[in-house]
Amino acid sequence: MELYIGTLVIACIPVALFLISRRLLKSVKSVKDKVVLITGASSGLGEECAKVFYENGAVIVLCARRKAELERVRQSLLDNPKITADPKRIILQELDLEKSGYLNTIVQRIISKTSTIDILINNAGVSYRGVAHETELSVFSKLLKVNVLGTVELTTSVLQHMIEKESGHIVNVSSVQGKIAIPYRSAYAASKHALHAYSDSLRAEVSSKGIQVSVIAPAYIRTNLSVNSVTSSGEKHAVMDATTAKGMHPRYVAQVILSMVKDEKREVILAPFHHRLAIILRAVYPSMYFRIMNMRATKEENSYA
Ligand SMILES: NC(=O)c1ccc[n+]([C@@H]2O[C@H](COP(=O)([O-])OP(=O)(O)OC[C@H]3O[C@@H](n4cnc5c(N)ncnc54)[C@H](OP(=O)(O)O)[C@@H]3O)[C@@H](O)[C@H]2O)c1
Ligand SMILES: *[C@@H]1O[C@H](CO)[C@@H](O)[C@H](O)[C@H]1NC(C)=O
Ligand SMILES: *[C@@H]1O[C@H](CO)[C@@H](O)[C@H](O)[C@H]1NC(C)=O
Repeated sequence: MELYIGTLVIACIPVALFLISRRLLKSVKSVKDKVVLITGASSGLGEECAKVFYENGAVIVLCARRKAELERVRQSLLDNPKITADPKRIILQELDLEKSGYLNTIVQRIISKTSTIDILINNAGVSYRGVAHETELSVFSKLLKVNVLGTVELTTSVLQHMIEKESGHIVNVSSVQGKIAIPYRSAYAASKHALHAYSDSLRAEVSSKGIQVSVIAPAYIRTNLSVNSVTSSGEKHAVMDATTAKGMHPRYVAQVILSMVKDEKREVILAPFHHRLAIILRAVYPSMYFRIMNMRATKEENSYA
């Protein structure tokens, strides 16, 4: 028995050494002085990403529609007593992903100020709650425009620049709902699945061009996402859902995003065990997944009527 344990311990040493050396040798990238463009930087996860990357020495370009909120984020960064204020490292850019056709001009304007974009964090997004067959087409259209089309347009323009300089890193903020879809989130889940699929195709296409593609699929995060989400008629949901209120702290998720950039991680599913299990179930035992979702839909039927 002792001999057995002894052999086991000895056998583990090379494995442990291998794992440790891989960890140490891995070129952890620094984001100091890197130019990071963050969409949806006026609140929630985007705002926390702005803080985390700024604290780590990056030049941050903060994009969103609400200029006043971007100003507030800038001021809170400059007021942070822990770091010496460096206003040159914060650039604000108003941008509406729902309006197509002008994002390339905006990207060129940003590059003319910063001379480059090293990292793009596609974080802006809207969510939705409603009964699919009662939902106005314009609501689907809005979700797809903000979460997919606008993001594709912006990314394509930034990518052209990255391909020319043969380097760059793109992080797409998807969701667990980019992997599985739950009832009463049809438009949101569809948009996040599209984003996820697009990223997987793109990752392969640009892998030989020195460009990294990361996708993070988080579970609930404690932000205003549910408050800001739209209903079947396009109105603001305006409710802080219990699930969202109990979600992960956005700062924690922002730190995971930073580590994904530093360690060049391609995909992180940041979710509790039962969410991961659901993702596996959907892949290996779909009929069981469908049955569970049917029950969930029935249970929640009256919540979205
Ligand atoms: N919270 C969660 O539970 C959760 C879970 C998984 C994934 N996510 C994802 O995390 C990302 C960030 O969301 P959040 O939770 O931080 O929610 P949030 O607080 O509502 O933030 C959404 C951000 O997107 C921006 N945005 C919305 N519509 C836009 C448009 N048309 N053009 C440009 N920017 C727009 C908003 O800025 P303006 O209003 O100023 O434009 C805001 O900064 C989203 O992609 C979301 O899907 C969230
Ligand atoms: C992120 O998603 C957007 C929208 O689907 C897409 O345009 C972009 O290419 C994706 N980025 C990467 C790096 O895959
Ligand atoms: C949600 O929005 C309200 C009003 O804009 C703001 O006071 C609050 O801090 C926001 N909460 C989060 C978690 O971002």
